[in-house]
Amino acid sequence: MELMRTKTDKEGKEKVKLSILSLLQDRLVDTIDLMMQAKQAHWNTKGKHFYPLHLLFDEVAEALKKSIDLIAERIVQLGGVADGTVQTVGKKTKLPMYPLHIVTGEEHSTNLANALIQYCDLEKNAIISANDAQDFATADMLIDISREINKYYWLVSAHVYTQKPQPR
Ligand SMILES: [Fe+2]
Repeated sequence: MELMRTKTDKEGKEKVKLSILSLLQDRLVDTIDLMMQAKQAHWNTKGKHFYPLHLLFDEVAEALKKSIDLIAERIVQLGGVADGTVQTVGKKTKLPMYPLHIVTGEEHSTNLANALIQYCDLEKNAIISANDAQDFATADMLIDISREINKYYWLVSAHVYTQKPQPR
């Protein structure tokens, strides 16, 4: 009887770990995509306020680069394999593709702000799941990332007066 319970507990824990690994893999993919979207904005923005926006978009990309590392290393700490290949990111990202035809700082700010807020929503769901699974270390890491990206949502969306959604 005791043995049966131990076995079930073990299976339960394994199931939870696998669900956390899959959740983290999803976060890794979206974070890599968002980092590259910030780079698209950094490279291609033109016109009014070019230089401060060029710098701000690169700061967003740098913050996301650090988050990518945290997420990937948490996957490996939990016994998984971090898959950050461009092929996987292209196939699995939940963010819409960054448009190639936009030019102005306002257009890039709008697009990046929308991607940042969508990312924050996805992050929030992952935090709730990690918390429910009682993986507080993962939840805490995701909360840190979410706080940082919410801050960048504010900084980027402040350049667009009509931006509606509030920070998550
Ligand atoms: Fe650059």
